[in-house]
This record gives sequence, C-alpha cells and structure tokens, in this order.
Amino acid sequence: MSERVLVTSALPYANGPVHLGHMVEHVQTDVYVRWRRAIGDEVTWICAADAHGTPIEVNAGKAGMDPAAFAEKYRADQRRDFERFGIAHDTYYTTHSPENRKWAYRIYDALKAKGLIYKKSVEQLYCEHDGRFLPDRFVKGTCPKCGTPDQYGDVCENCGTTYDPRELVNPACALCRRPPVVRASDHAYVNLRKPEVRAVIEGWVLAEGHLEAGVRAQVSGWLADLQDWCITRDPPYFGFPVQDPEFPGKFLYVWVDAPIGYLSSAEHHFAEEVAPERRLSPGAFERAWLAEGAPARLEHFIGKDILRFHAVFWPAMLWAAGLKRPDRMPVHGHLTVNGEKMSKSRGTFVNAATYLDAGLDPELLRYFFCANLGPGVADLDLSLEEFRNRINADLSNNVANLASRVAALLQRAPGPVEAAPDAEIRELARRLLDEARADYGRLQLKAVVRCASEIAVLCNRRVQAGKPWENPAGEAERVLLWSVAKALLAIAMILRPVMPRFAGGLARAFGAELPRWDEGFDPFRGPVEVREKPPQIARLEAKQVERLIAVAPEAKPARVSAAPSPAETATKVTARPAPVPGVIGYDDFARVELRVGLVRAAEAVPKADKLLKLSVDVGEAAPRTIVAGIAQAYPDPSRLVGLRIVVVANLEPRPLRGIVSQGMLLAAGEAPGLQVVTVGEGIAPGTRVK
Ligand code: 2FM
Ligand code: ZN
Repeated sequence: MSERVLVTSALPYANGPVHLGHMVEHVQTDVYVRWRRAIGDEVTWICAADAHGTPIEVNAGKAGMDPAAFAEKYRADQRRDFERFGIAHDTYYTTHSPENRKWAYRIYDALKAKGLIYKKSVEQLYCEHDGRFLPDRFVKGTCPKCGTPDQYGDVCENCGTTYDPRELVNPACALCRRPPVVRASDHAYVNLRKPEVRAVIEGWVLAEGHLEAGVRAQVSGWLADLQDWCITRDPPYFGFPVQDPEFPGKFLYVWVDAPIGYLSSAEHHFAEEVAPERRLSPGAFERAWLAEGAPARLEHFIGKDILRFHAVFWPAMLWAAGLKRPDRMPVHGHLTVNGEKMSKSRGTFVNAATYLDAGLDPELLRYFFCANLGPGVADLDLSLEEFRNRINADLSNNVANLASRVAALLQRAPGPVEAAPDAEIRELARRLLDEARADYGRLQLKAVVRCASEIAVLCNRRVQAGKPWENPAGEAERVLLWSVAKALLAIAMILRPVMPRFAGGLARAFGAELPRWDEGFDPFRGPVEVREKPPQIARLEAKQVERLIAVAPEAKPARVSAAPSPAETATKVTARPAPVPGVIGYDDFARVELRVGLVRAAEAVPKADKLLKLSVDVGEAAPRTIVAGIAQAYPDPSRLVGLRIVVVANLEPRPLRGIVSQGMLLAAGEAPGLQVVTVGEGIAPGTRVK
C-alpha cells in the first residue's frame, strides 16, 4: 500500500557554499526519495538554509552585509549547487521566514505552557572589546589537559578532551585575540529531566524503527545523564527575539528554530509552491502531515554530529506542541577525502561547485557514495583512486560497455525473439530486482549497487562465453542478446534512483520507459527495439579526479609504482639502518603493485597442459592477458570467470608459449588443490591490495 511521507535533510547553514560532505546526506536522501516515488509512495522532500546564529551574524558583518541578505545569497548558491547535482528537494526555503517565526513562538509557548521553561544564570566568556558573549567556537586557548595551544573552547583536537571554555589556559577571543572576561547572564532552560518529558524522549528513542540499533544504543547512553537545555542567546545575534517578558532582549538559540524549519518550510511549500489544486491552508497542512495520528510519515535524514539535537531535544519539542514525533531518523557518518578529515589547508575540502567545475559528472559521485553507504554511521571515504577504479570497473566496463556491445549486435540482427529468455539471466535479474527493492528500504545502498553489478557480471560472462558476434543472427545468440538487453532494463530499474539520467538513457536505448517499480516487476516481456545508442561512461583518468584536490601535493594519492628518484633513494639509504637479512623494508613491499582483477575470460593454452590464458580487468582501458600455470587446478577454466583475483600489476611483461603475459596472479597451494587468491565482490577491479 502506498504511503505518504514527509522527508527532510539537515538544513545547511547559510554561511558558505555546500561541499561534498553535505552531498553525502543529500545524495542519500535524494536516492531514497526517488526510490520511494518509484514504488508509488507520495513523498515530499523538505530542505532549507539554516539562516541564524552567531557565525552568520559575524560573517555578514565582515562582508558588510545585513545578515538576512547574507543568508539569502548563500541560500541561492546552495540551491543552485544542489540542483546541478541532481538533488531535487521539493522546496529549499529558509529558517528566516515568517512561517518559521510563527512556528518557533508556538513551540516556545507550548514548552512554557507545560511549565518546562525556567530561568538560570549562566557564566560565560565575554569579550569586552567586541561586546559579545563568545560561543565555544569563538574562543581559542591552550588545552587544560595536554597543553596544546590554539584549541577551540569546546574540545581539544589533539587529545579529544571536552571542556568548558572557561577552563582553557590563556583564552583569547577568536575575533580580536584579546583575553575575554567571565560574565553572568540569565537564560531560558528547558527542563528535560522532568519525568513526563524524559518518558517521551525515552519512549521515542527506544521504539523500534526510529533509530538504527547502534544509534539507539548511543542515544540511550546519553539519556542516563540527561541535561536540561539552554535555548536562549544574548545579543548581538541573528535569530528570532524571544517574546517572553521574563527574558527581555534574548534571542532564540539557532538550534531551536532550525529543526522547526522542517515544519515551517513544509507549510510554506504546501501553501505556495504546489499546484493550486494541491494547496493546503496551514491548518489543513498540520492535520494532514503533522498532527498526532496524521496519515503521513515523518523521516529526518541527519549526520551523526547533530544527533543529540534531533534525537533528544526535537521529540520533546514536538510532543510539547502536540505534534507527531518522527517515524524514522537515518543517521550517516562523515565524509573523509583520501582517508582524512576534509581540510582546507591540505586542499581536501571540496565544494560541490569544485567537483562540477572540474567537469566531473555528478552521477558518478552519486554512484560512488551509494556504493559505499549502508544504514550505519561509518564514515565514508572518498579515496580518489577508489573512486576512479570503481567508476571505471563497475560503470564504464561492466555496464556501459556491455550495453553498447549488445545494442550494436542487436542492431545487426534485430527483431523480436519468440523463444523463452535465458533462464540463468532471468532468474538472477528477477531475484536481484527484489533484493534491491528491499535493500533501498533498509538504506543498504551499497547492496543495491552490488545487485546491479552482479547482473552485469553474469551478462558479461555469458556474452564472453556465447560469442554472439560470431553469428548474431543465430537463434541461441539472439535469445542471449535479447535476454541481456532485458537484464540491462533490470539494471536501469535498480540504478534509476542513483543515476536517473544514465538509467533513463539505458532504458530508452532498448526501447523502454521505466514504469513504476511494483513488486514482481518483470522486464522480460515483449520485444527489444534498439532505439538509440546507450549512454556511455568515459573512463576516469587520474588527472581528472586529482583536480578535486586544491593545492597540497602531499595530499595526492601516493604513486608507489613510480620508481623513487636517485635523491630519494640516497636519503633513504643514509637515513635508515641496514635491513635485517631476509627482512624487506616497507618501501620494498610497496613497490609491488598488487591490484584486484576481475577475470573476464579464461581458456586453455594449446599444447601446454599447465597453462591457462586469462583476460583480466584490472581497472584499465583494456583487460590484460595473463598466462598462469594453474590449468591442473582448473580443468574447467570457465570456473575462473567472474572471480576477483589478486594480480601483480607492475611486473615486467614476459612471453610464455608465444603469448605475452602482462602480469602474474597470486595463488595458494599446489596443483590439483591449488586455489587462486580472491577477494569479495564489493571490491572494484583495479583496487590496490596493500
Ligand atoms: O549542523 C548544521 O549544519 C545545521 N545547520 C543543521 C540543522 S538541521 C535542522 F535542525 F535544521
Ligand atoms: Zn574580541
């Protein structure tokens, strides 16, 4: 039965352009929303720019702009960059809106009416020169624990200790570098420890389906030490002024009105942005989407850094206002680039616009992110080498090349096929279509991508073995080609949420428009008509992806296969003690370039009973020929096809029985029990083994 769902992604601060870290979440959400729509659900996806807070107020001042105009400029930039990435929010509004002001006051009043707001005097660091209280990130000083200088007011980057900014040694205002003083000010707190509030939060956190198990355990841990929440800030501040006479001159803390922005942006969307016949008054909108028991789901996609605000404070705020609590809150990890936290000084802080301006197709990054995303909070690494290998192996070689070969052959021998489709191909495609559909629901996007890949691997193997180019008009060949074309439609269906443009082109090439993804969807019906060329995916070259890294040469992936310069060798020799006999240094090991290779074809070498000739995809433009002495262990060489083996990729080519072997494979044991070394299907051909 189809569902009605309000989906949100976290609202980026309107304090700069969006970067690839934002893209992880927005790609994940976009893919999920497209999948839900593909299966027939009614989804509205809300996002907005988070316009308030001290950093925006300060940066607007530095730019000589009014904070509202400053936030508006970045909102426009962010929206444009998201759109260029194929990220299709239904609205990209702002938290600095009249609707949000109204909702923020309503929720404040609701908390007050329940007797949950109380006043408390708080001591904070205050800069007399700038005339402001200093948020944690606006104070720097020496870590009280390990003595590292230049640390922020909340946590030491060196030892990880968290502290109160007043504990910093030699604190300084980050704006003017002068020492701050300690000053007291009255603030509004929300009493979260009150038993009825605690019960609401706990009930929400522990209920099945809201949080993934690991996340639930983490949040439960926080509940053991539940702290009340300070929800006001002193001026100067950019935000909504508190209207409660008990707190004159105070502003609502940005983290109060930010999640409220989900609701107000949705209200705005239904009031003004939808077709006239779908418009809803604020009251009708609330009844349809937000009220307790409303016939709609509420799902928030967030990153792990903002979990506490969403999983502890937010359910309490909604409850106080008589609104339904979220039905699901998927939480993802952070993005690292080449194994490290994104860093401006290392040149690895990549804005979305930088990626696009480098001429890279956004669908490739969407694919890579999905290939590495599960439902958990593990960080996702954008290793530029892995990115390139995966695109080249999975998309360029495995899917796009297959599609163009098959389309070309079908054009030579067109026409409908009456025979039943190839059973092996059809069974696998059907099974994996169902699996992928379920994997999307679980946000197991890496498994979704594997489903598509697995179908393509089988098709490639069958095409390689069936050699339909030798007799494209033969009945068996036509059945095979027709079946592969149909399997490509299954792949298009699976990949459509991830790569909508590519998948649409793939389907059109074989004469189909992808329908709704109903359970039991079966592409193996009807004729195939090649209508246009399937979309191609050009192989990514190292220099293309390296454009993403701004400056620092040390941030580039190490090229261990390059021989060291004489100067480097000389330094190493003099700088290190002589190696122990029989022991090699790391550099010696690193010179051996081991890579994952996908066996595309395998056959016996005539008149050589020990040798097999393999065609192996190691992530390069063309597969390599590798001759290996493994024939006695593999009397049926086709068993090797589809395996991901480990290849020494920088071995000097050498002729064996008149065939030049372009590498060596790793194997363990002796014939006939010998086995080639393999890795799992999740690893793309070309990936370094180290
Ligand atoms: O951490 C951030 O970037 C916040 N601007 C996210 C806000 S999400 C929601 F609460 F609005
Ligand atoms: Zn100052």
